[in-house]
Amino acid sequence: MYAKHTQGRIARQAHTTVPEGTYEEHHARQGFEGEVSQLYHAHPTTDWLRVEGPIRPRGIQLTDVPAADEHDERALPTVLMFNQDITLAVSKRTAPMPYYVRNADGDTLLLTQAGHGTLVTDYGTLAYGPLEYLVIPKGTNYRIVPASNELHVTYVMETRDPLTLPERGPLGHFLPFDRGVLDVPRLDAGLPVPSAQNADGEWEVLVKRGGELSSIFYAFDPADVQGWTGSLAPFRLRLADIRPLTSERLDVPPMTHATFQAGDNWIVTMAPRPTQTAPDAERAQPFHRNVDYDEVIVPLGSPDAGGAGPTPGLASITPAGMNHGPNQARMAAQRDRLPIYVWNIDTIRPLHYTDAFEAGETPDFARHESYRG
Ligand SMILES: [Fe+2]
Repeated sequence: MYAKHTQGRIARQAHTTVPEGTYEEHHARQGFEGEVSQLYHAHPTTDWLRVEGPIRPRGIQLTDVPAADEHDERALPTVLMFNQDITLAVSKRTAPMPYYVRNADGDTLLLTQAGHGTLVTDYGTLAYGPLEYLVIPKGTNYRIVPASNELHVTYVMETRDPLTLPERGPLGHFLPFDRGVLDVPRLDAGLPVPSAQNADGEWEVLVKRGGELSSIFYAFDPADVQGWTGSLAPFRLRLADIRPLTSERLDVPPMTHATFQAGDNWIVTMAPRPTQTAPDAERAQPFHRNVDYDEVIVPLGSPDAGGAGPTPGLASITPAGMNHGPNQARMAAQRDRLPIYVWNIDTIRPLHYTDAFEAGETPDFARHESYRG
């Protein structure tokens, strides 16, 4: 740790009793974890006139993206953002996959925003529903079989590094969830699913490697496992099983809500919880400079929120280097409870955007994200 220095008007404890007429900005390395200083500004750092260039904040309503697999059963999810480590896509699949997918490029994380269905894999079958994660290890054969007659929206992330559960250190084994709540597919699940046999009487495994597609054909259903043992398997985590850390007296840093890690990239789930309510605690997150991560935030709603909070699926992206923080409305009406689930992805490398993203992008989003709102 470097020496701690102090000049001018400051708060003795960060994020509490910010000096009158100042706006606290958190300038840190490694998210909220590394070396840090608090800067007390005369103006909010997000009170910009305009932002020019690629670090401007960007937004997209993910539930409105026209996904290719909505009407084409052979299509894969529509990729919106990517870098060397991750891709983020949207699926609105309504028909069962007519093949098994085997992703040989990375692990796959599905987060269902809307819709129910069945995940069919080598390891057995598993039901899924809204606000549930499915983790599918690289190389698993799997099919998505959506239930009919409902809206389906699933966020699909691919990670080059293995998706792991972050170290919990002194938090122990049961925060933010007991690993006993992770469900794996069962060979004896008995869930009815239509066969993937095609018109030629064959079964297809569609393999993605280096972004290119190949197919392996069989005269029998390749998901014919009679037994399995090991620690590598798909699993489901329901967001409702997450029990978030809370603090009455200080903002809890976002990374403490991390659900998964993929190399140096973080996948965070903020679950409904009380926010800090002590009289001297700042309730809104401090303004911050996101210098190590591009940050994707997606409000997911909650069955108990009664429509509170932003529209589910309204993704905002703050590239590293951009200022970030609450707007005027949030500063004026600070909440004492986070009413919804929020998905947050922090990527160590810059994200790039596809044509599908740009076609659906919310115009002038930087103004929406400014202090002026
Ligand atoms: Fe942030």
